[in-house]
Amino acid sequence: IPVDPFDLVIFGGTGDLARRKILPGLYRRYCSGQMEDNSRIIGAARSEHETAEFRQMIADAIAEFDPKSGSPEQLEGFLERLEYVQVDALGEAGWKELAALMGENRVRAFYFSVAPSLFGALAERLHAHGIADSETRIVVEKPFGKDLASAKALNAALAEHFDESQIYRIDHYLGKETVQNLMAVRFGNMLFEPLWNSQYIDHIQITVAETVGVDGRGEYYDRSGAMRDMVQNHLMQLLCLTAMEPPAKFDPDAVRDEKLKVIRALNAVPLEDVVRGQYLADGKKPGYLEHAGDPDSKTESFIALRVEVSNWRWAGTPFYMRTGKRLRARSSEIAVVFKETPHSIFGEEAGRHRNVLTIRLQPNEGMDLFVTIKEPGPGGMRLVDVPLDMTFAEALGPEAEDVPDAYERLIMDVIRGNQTLFMRGDEVEAAWAWADPLIASWENRGDKPVPYETGSTGPEEALAMMHREGRRWRDIRA
Ligand code: BG6
Repeated sequence: IPVDPFDLVIFGGTGDLARRKILPGLYRRYCSGQMEDNSRIIGAARSEHETAEFRQMIADAIAEFDPKSGSPEQLEGFLERLEYVQVDALGEAGWKELAALMGENRVRAFYFSVAPSLFGALAERLHAHGIADSETRIVVEKPFGKDLASAKALNAALAEHFDESQIYRIDHYLGKETVQNLMAVRFGNMLFEPLWNSQYIDHIQITVAETVGVDGRGEYYDRSGAMRDMVQNHLMQLLCLTAMEPPAKFDPDAVRDEKLKVIRALNAVPLEDVVRGQYLADGKKPGYLEHAGDPDSKTESFIALRVEVSNWRWAGTPFYMRTGKRLRARSSEIAVVFKETPHSIFGEEAGRHRNVLTIRLQPNEGMDLFVTIKEPGPGGMRLVDVPLDMTFAEALGPEAEDVPDAYERLIMDVIRGNQTLFMRGDEVEAAWAWADPLIASWENRGDKPVPYETGSTGPEEALAMMHREGRRWRDIRA
């Protein structure tokens, strides 16, 4: 279904994210017929370009990042929707031209794909030049602050000119297909919700493993580390969707209210429950310290932590989270590990078994539910765990392969005016309020992350953290 006609202005329109994700994503939506012919995308940046040059730049980006989508005619049709204006975020240049370009009677959205230090200035100028009104939407990228104070300052700067209902804070993990499926599975089935609590669940594991290093973005990364770059936002969102109470409706504030309650119920994490690591060089590729450009860097490229949600549903059920760069495989999943049956009627030799529900974000999006059955054949009652595989692509056919990428979906939600998959200001602040004291505790102690091998599952210490409680991490596999 096509969305309403829109003018989408992308500040930072020639930048890496715009070329890699935003514009190829919009192109795919155009090809699938979601964009009315009079919709336009306006690239805005500091550098001087003719619109023709900008169109060429985007044609090149599409050829590089999404060569398979669309036909030459479609590409031409899409490029005609593109305009370019040179705008100085901190000065006066370009704003009048931008104002003149904006159409009437259409959705106006502004994507701030720029450094957060410019968010306030952009918001202010959009207002000063009469480009934004009470219907206008703005989209802001992460990092949304580096701590509670800076996040509050950003929220306050945006709030001077925009109402919360106009602000779309992106966490692209919320745009991933499986993440939404987690809600569908939890709240669209009778099967899981009655068991979804500390009485039946032993623990939950959330893993986001990457094979890439921080090559090329060492400077940004070394100021953040895995905690700020991944845990405070992406893993936190996964935890919230796993742990939250059923919202009364699938509506933006109902969902976000429930997520917020989870964040506010998180315990302070003691340092014994945290393992931080840095990847080592592996002969071919440099190690983290080289990428960081600082041999004494204390920033982590891996973190594992044990978190508790202190409420009636979850008291006593640990949530283990880990994420890292240069690990064995690119593999992200949430695993819900159920308790053993209270009593085994099959005797000790049948072994002890547990149901596990895994929700895979990447690769091969899908779910597995491991159930215990009898091993076929003679030899008595031997039990094995087998997966009821729910790989979406297999179950749903080729259409399931064609899932929109996270950015694509989220941008269309902005145009539709649906904030459900965007973070609310208080949610971001609550997540920083939880993360800040933990970060401060290792910084104050001057802790240095432990080294781990490239291609491993992270430091030994992270395995030990689980073993000490008689549990083990699931394997990291592609
Ligand atoms: C980004 C982080 O937000 O997410 C990156 O800044 C990380 O460090 C990326 O690599 C992971 O996203 P995805 O979609 O590839 O899992």
